[in-house]
Amino acid sequence: MANTPANSGPQVEEGPWIEIIQKMESLYADLAQTQTEVERKNEELLRAKAFTDNVIRSMVNSLVVANRDAFITTANDASCQLLGYAKEELLGRPVGMIFADGAPNPFRRSSELWNRCRMTGNVTGIETAMKLKCGEEIPVSLNASQMRDRAGDVVGTVLVATDLREMRRLLLEAQAAAAAEREQAAERAKAYRELQAIQSRLIQSEKMSSLGRMAASVAHEINNPLGAIVVYSHLLLENTAEDFPGRANLRKITREAMRCRDIVRGLLDFARPAPGSRQAADVNAIVRAGRDLLEGHAAFRDIQARLDLSPTPLWVTCDPDQLQQAFTNILVNAAEAIGGPGTISLRSWYDGPHGMVAVSITDTGCGISPENLERVFEPFFTTKQEGHGTGLGLAIAYGIATRHGGTIKVESRPGKGTTFTVWLPGGAPEEA
Ligand SMILES: Nc1ncnc2c1ncn2[C@@H]1O[C@H](COP(=O)(O)OP(=O)(O)O)[C@@H](O)[C@H]1O
Ligand SMILES: [Mg+2]
Repeated sequence: MANTPANSGPQVEEGPWIEIIQKMESLYADLAQTQTEVERKNEELLRAKAFTDNVIRSMVNSLVVANRDAFITTANDASCQLLGYAKEELLGRPVGMIFADGAPNPFRRSSELWNRCRMTGNVTGIETAMKLKCGEEIPVSLNASQMRDRAGDVVGTVLVATDLREMRRLLLEAQAAAAAEREQAAERAKAYRELQAIQSRLIQSEKMSSLGRMAASVAHEINNPLGAIVVYSHLLLENTAEDFPGRANLRKITREAMRCRDIVRGLLDFARPAPGSRQAADVNAIVRAGRDLLEGHAAFRDIQARLDLSPTPLWVTCDPDQLQQAFTNILVNAAEAIGGPGTISLRSWYDGPHGMVAVSITDTGCGISPENLERVFEPFFTTKQEGHGTGLGLAIAYGIATRHGGTIKVESRPGKGTTFTVWLPGGAPEEA
């Protein structure tokens, strides 16, 4: 421009213009750069937002955000699905609507949760209940954390809820399974105990029958000579003068011989192979007859007998004499165990489902210690003073019951009393 003729147009100074244009060009360039920068930032922002949206949307847990006035500003798909609302039905509504009435909720002013949330900024693992659109209330585990702006002011609260229904269901299932398992284990243990009991009964009856055979042969061998000793010692005693010096010894011999005879008789009873006569008889009548027989007995003087027999007859096919012996053996033991004033209760009933008739004899006596309980049916087992027990009473009773297809059970509480229950196959009136 310096060589433009001075008269060809208005005279301007070129220097400043060039400068201005250059400045403007550089400004344009800056602007363009800023523009691209802004666009890039904007794109980044959009990408970040899309990413966050995506994360929120694909969260399995329900996410709800409420602003500082407790109105819902965000609800992800999972929360809409869980609660049964469309997103529009939640946005802008008070967040309290998604909690069950009275359930812990970090928005209820001055509640414990509200305080905790304000103090620490978040609460986690809260078990509470949410209310679905349909009105159903469901258990959830809730985390709540406060959102703050740059200045540190609370702008809202983020809620993340996990549906606990499935977990609760699984828990209940697991509990039920555990309970069933426990029950099965108890049943197995019971079956095992029953098996053990059967086994010990088998051993017991095996022992008794071999002892029985031995006892029978011994008793047969000594029964006759013993009978002779008893008879002749009695005769001798009768024919001896009162002042004969050996008379006291002779009386002892007679008494001891009679005791031997009782033992041998007991052994023979015990070993008796089969019931004598078999006939249909009413067990109640047999029990009554046994009780009457013992009433005069010295051991029963202070004893009150209580009868609680079934109102109708209980029929069994049996040898009534043998059955009566079994009952009296048990009754005598009961009176001896009481050893003074006390009560013996006799009860009888029909166990229809098992086709069995039962007679129980309960005393208020000394009871039987657990270690002796297993041995009471053993022949010769006695805890009585020398000369007072043969140890055969229960062995005989047990033998009689088993030969009738039944059994005898015993339960005892030491110091309180004992119950012997005789079980026999039989029937109630209409089946007899
Ligand atoms: N009702 C009872 N209460 C307490 N102990 C009993 C009872 N019945 C039986 N017994 C115990 O069983 C043992 C055996 O009884 P048993 O066979 O009749 O023989 P014994 O009466 O001759 O001792 C008794 O010595 C006693 O220890
Ligand atoms: Mg006895």
